[in-house]
Amino acid sequence: MASPKKEILPPPRHIAIIMDGNGRWAKKRGLPRTAGHAAGAETFRRIANHCRKLGVQYLTVYAFSTENWKRSQEEVSGIMKLLGRYLQEALEDMEKNHVRFRFWGDLSKLSPELQQLCLAAQSRSGGYQDVQVHFCLNYGGRDEIVHAARALAEQVRQGALKPGDIDEALFSQYLYSANVPDPELVIRPSGEMRTSNFLPWQSVYSEFVFMNVLWPDFSPQDLDEAIAEYHRRSRRFGGA
Ligand code: IPE
Ligand code: IPE
Ligand code: MG
Repeated sequence: MASPKKEILPPPRHIAIIMDGNGRWAKKRGLPRTAGHAAGAETFRRIANHCRKLGVQYLTVYAFSTENWKRSQEEVSGIMKLLGRYLQEALEDMEKNHVRFRFWGDLSKLSPELQQLCLAAQSRSGGYQDVQVHFCLNYGGRDEIVHAARALAEQVRQGALKPGDIDEALFSQYLYSANVPDPELVIRPSGEMRTSNFLPWQSVYSEFVFMNVLWPDFSPQDLDEAIAEYHRRSRRFGGA
């Protein structure tokens, strides 16, 4: 008889992951931090594929935050170089796996080449429907909210909106996540128990699963475990 743990339940529609722990993974092996980021990029590929197989519709991953510019010039440029290479490969991969790519974050701070690659990935994968990946790049939750507030203020200034027209539904339309359902599950590997400016608006009723594994070691089984933990939670949304 199958044990309850092996029971296959439908996965959450939208999973968000803070891909953390690359630096510690590299340090443990006496490698430069960029080697950890390269290993982390491979993990992303494996996990995105696993999500596709499970039938997850949306996968949002935190790749680089608005605060990560504080790191050494060497690490930041290593990450940017890796992203450039990775996106080139992803463009080819996407065709095979039918992954739709979107970028959440302020891309204007990235190099013109990287911006170009992001736009190409976004437009070339626009028709795919297997799994939609939101790749958070120079993303900050507070920054996202400030951008939305500014755009709404501009609408009011032009007379297109009245302040009283602004409600939660309209505000949501001005976020990167417009028209995407909130994540049911947010996973943070690496042992840290904080959100580090990730999806503050969208995650108010998400289930959080913190795991003691470094992102490059994060396996499809770890994802299954996080989903199983999600299914054990009782979600009430403020109700009784
Ligand atoms: C996550 O791994 C990747 C980025 C934030 C770019 P870290 O680089 O934060 O790894 P740790 O947390 O130092 O181990
Ligand atoms: C969060 O990780 C950002 C990403 C994983 C991209 P950090 O490593 O930057 O977060 P803190 O500094 O531990 O809060
Ligand atoms: Mg970290």
